[in-house]
Amino acid sequence: MAKRVVLAYSGGLDTSIAVRWMREHWGVEVVCCAVDVGQMREGESDVIHRRAEAAGAVEVEVIDARDEFAAGFLVPALRANAMYEGKYPLVSALSRPVIVEHLVASARRHGADAVGHGCTGKGNDQVRFEVSTRALAPDLEVLAPVRTWGLTRADCIDLAHQWGIPIEATKEKLYSIDENMWGRAIECGVLENPWSAPPSDPFTLTRDPGDAPSEPREIIVGFEAGAPVSLDGEAVSLVEMIDALGTTVGAYGFGRIDMVENRRVGIKSREVYECPASLALILAHQDLEGVTLERDVAREKQRLEIRVAELIYDGLWHSPLMRALDAFMVSTQEHVTGEVRLRLEPGRCYAAGRRAPRGLYDHDLATYDASDAFRHEDSDGFVRLWGLSVETWSRRQGPGATS
Ligand code: ARG
Repeated sequence: MAKRVVLAYSGGLDTSIAVRWMREHWGVEVVCCAVDVGQMREGESDVIHRRAEAAGAVEVEVIDARDEFAAGFLVPALRANAMYEGKYPLVSALSRPVIVEHLVASARRHGADAVGHGCTGKGNDQVRFEVSTRALAPDLEVLAPVRTWGLTRADCIDLAHQWGIPIEATKEKLYSIDENMWGRAIECGVLENPWSAPPSDPFTLTRDPGDAPSEPREIIVGFEAGAPVSLDGEAVSLVEMIDALGTTVGAYGFGRIDMVENRRVGIKSREVYECPASLALILAHQDLEGVTLERDVAREKQRLEIRVAELIYDGLWHSPLMRALDAFMVSTQEHVTGEVRLRLEPGRCYAAGRRAPRGLYDHDLATYDASDAFRHEDSDGFVRLWGLSVETWSRRQGPGATS
């Protein structure tokens, strides 16, 4: 059994109980490592320190990983327009590998022989924590106390009181929420009935479309080599961009997702998300690719995007296939530079215009007016040969066959 573990600490009920529980039941020293990927509020770092210490942590670390998360994880995801099952921009799935990178680094710093997480046995997050750990540091053990302890939420709250751990949790818990810069994932409670419409109370990033401003608005997103770099012509950092865009787009009631998704462990699960910034950026990026990617590259890229999303979802961020696919994605982005005009209306966000200095849109080829430079006479032979195989089939075996 491990002697010292670095725990992915959120400051919530489960991971707080896990600190003391692992010490008592497994006799391990616990280092708490809280990684900020955009979910932490003002002053939360102090609360985390106090709670972890009260729970009996030997060390507490709070790491600001926002810039790194944006540049090293969100930009690659955006390059691949990564959306699991065509809908979910992989909010939680993207945060796990960056958290694991920090857990492993912290384990090295503190001479730990294990890392730990507070995931249950039913979800995807345990898969992501453990597979990433095994990819980065196969020598480390992974401890998953929540998976084995058999405690209910009420038991945990009683233990917190008994052990003097200051927590705010109440026995009634409405939702399980995981959030970061890329959006929020909301599960449990009434949402477990897939027929029930989501109530409005769990949403914080998106307004109800009925309460959105009635005046439409436009916002211009600029990209350089596939990465977002400006808003309305002004250069902004990625973290600022995601924040500002999310606020504007969310106010128009755009960005809510309601789906039943296939978890890695074989369960179908009803998931509700709000992802105003990520959905708007993916939409803008896809639109700019429409004008900048050569046709066959675009077609092949779409097929591979599905694989990238699956790899991220399934905990395979740190894998050789992910590296190879990312190299492909990077190679497609060289000329994905330009601007997209996003138009916002209540509950809607769509591209209403785009321009790219190295775009492939050629007005003289596309136009039907007098400046038309397309060689119409070439089409005759081209289309005849394109259809030759099907025509031959028809004459011999198909509807055109005579007797
Ligand atoms: N279903 C999503 C995913 O697997 C969200 C998971 C959210 N996690 C949570 N602890 N609520 O990526």
